[in-house]
Amino acid sequence: MQSQAPNLVSISADLEAAGVRVLVLRGGIGSRDGTSASSALGHSAGADPTMQLLIPKAHLEAALRVIEPLSWRYSWVHTGLLRLLPMRYYWWDGGPELELYWSVPASPLPPAALRALTCSLWQGAEQMPDGFVRPDPAALLVHLAVQSSRPGRAHEDDWARFLESRTSIDDWARVDDIARTARVSRAVGRARVAAGAGRERPGPGPVYDGAWDIVWRLAMAVQARARPRRLKRLLAGTPWFGDAVIRCRVGELEVLAGPGVFVPSPDADLFVDVASKRVEALERPTIVEVGTGCGAIALALAAARPDAEIQATELSHSAVRWARRNARRLALQRVRFNAGSLLDPLPLGLRGQVDVIIANLPYFPARDYAAIGSVPRGTIQGAGEDGLGLIRQLARDALQYLRPGGGLLLQMFTWQWEVFSAELTQLGYRPGIPRLSGAFAICPADLAAA
Ligand SMILES: C[S@@+](CC[C@H](N)C(=O)[O-])C[C@H]1O[C@@H](n2cnc3c(N)ncnc32)[C@H](O)[C@@H]1O
Repeated sequence: MQSQAPNLVSISADLEAAGVRVLVLRGGIGSRDGTSASSALGHSAGADPTMQLLIPKAHLEAALRVIEPLSWRYSWVHTGLLRLLPMRYYWWDGGPELELYWSVPASPLPPAALRALTCSLWQGAEQMPDGFVRPDPAALLVHLAVQSSRPGRAHEDDWARFLESRTSIDDWARVDDIARTARVSRAVGRARVAAGAGRERPGPGPVYDGAWDIVWRLAMAVQARARPRRLKRLLAGTPWFGDAVIRCRVGELEVLAGPGVFVPSPDADLFVDVASKRVEALERPTIVEVGTGCGAIALALAAARPDAEIQATELSHSAVRWARRNARRLALQRVRFNAGSLLDPLPLGLRGQVDVIIANLPYFPARDYAAIGSVPRGTIQGAGEDGLGLIRQLARDALQYLRPGGGLLLQMFTWQWEVFSAELTQLGYRPGIPRLSGAFAICPADLAAA
């Protein structure tokens, strides 16, 4: 299933039609009726794949009734530490992102300041010629000044928007008023000085006009040095895969992946498709998935083939717990999730019985992992210089478990397959034609039938 990206600009209209009050904090380039693009205040012109909407908390349920049925691929909720991220996040294949907020994400400010900032965005909000309700420019500027004082890459965008927005402010007294009420004059003052001096960002310094500022400064100092990275990102208020429980759609199923567990990529759909075709003609096929993560592929296959026996293995105990949890939620408990390495934890009775062994094991060479660095290392960085160490071991071990005519389906880089397919031939497999997905491939290799 390829999730169809919705027209993000129409979402706010759909929400309003459902009785939800919506304030567009970012995005919505182009007018709702699809006429000419308008460069409304607060975002740069050009395609913006991110839309940030602020809604009243009381309207959250109604908003979810509109958004949940849309064909998003990933979603997560984070209310986080100190109400750091009062948000829900949605992502569609192809990149559009929707961030739904019900309070300004600006912890660690005191609740009264957060309330005042949120109210200021609503007060003076107006429907713009492009059809969207946008905040009073002065309130948006204060919001962006606070956001820009937070470290983290996400807030570089806020700084760019601050610089752009300030040129259209004609009532600076109003900006000062709003900042005073929310007690964040120091943040606005520092942002204005930094902008005047042509600096890259306001940099660390006072934000809140009271003793609470020490809390903000402490949190930002910890953030700058924090380990692990997850805590660092939480403090920066930057949501990221791996910080929350991610809801992910694979095939017709929705699975959950907790922190530290690999979140199935959109290629999981392709894997399910290739594997389903591989066992199409077989009655009661026996399928093994190695390195199942949160169990998405094994469970999607179980849903598609109620007659199949499906066993899965996984090294990470935490991933196994999420896989079993997903199986219970989806009432697909006949899939067996076994903790352990490669094929070691499989019942011995499966030897010579398996029709297909599928594996999206870690295969990134260390240098390629370093370029990404945000996904837990043990889930994608392979062993050995070429990253294929685990897959090599699996191909050898699988010879004991596959029945004649059975085969492997392995995910790897296309360049790895060019080399590895020759090794498989030497082991007695017959490599087939891989299904390509960008730089990756799902590669078949079968044993000769008896
Ligand atoms: C790239 S993830 C794929 C997860 C899942 N198959 C998917 O496609 O969504 C690789 C998974 O292999 C697991 N893994 C790593 N080494 C393993 C091993 N020796 N035996 C079994 N699983 C392993 C990791 O913990 C991780 O969950």
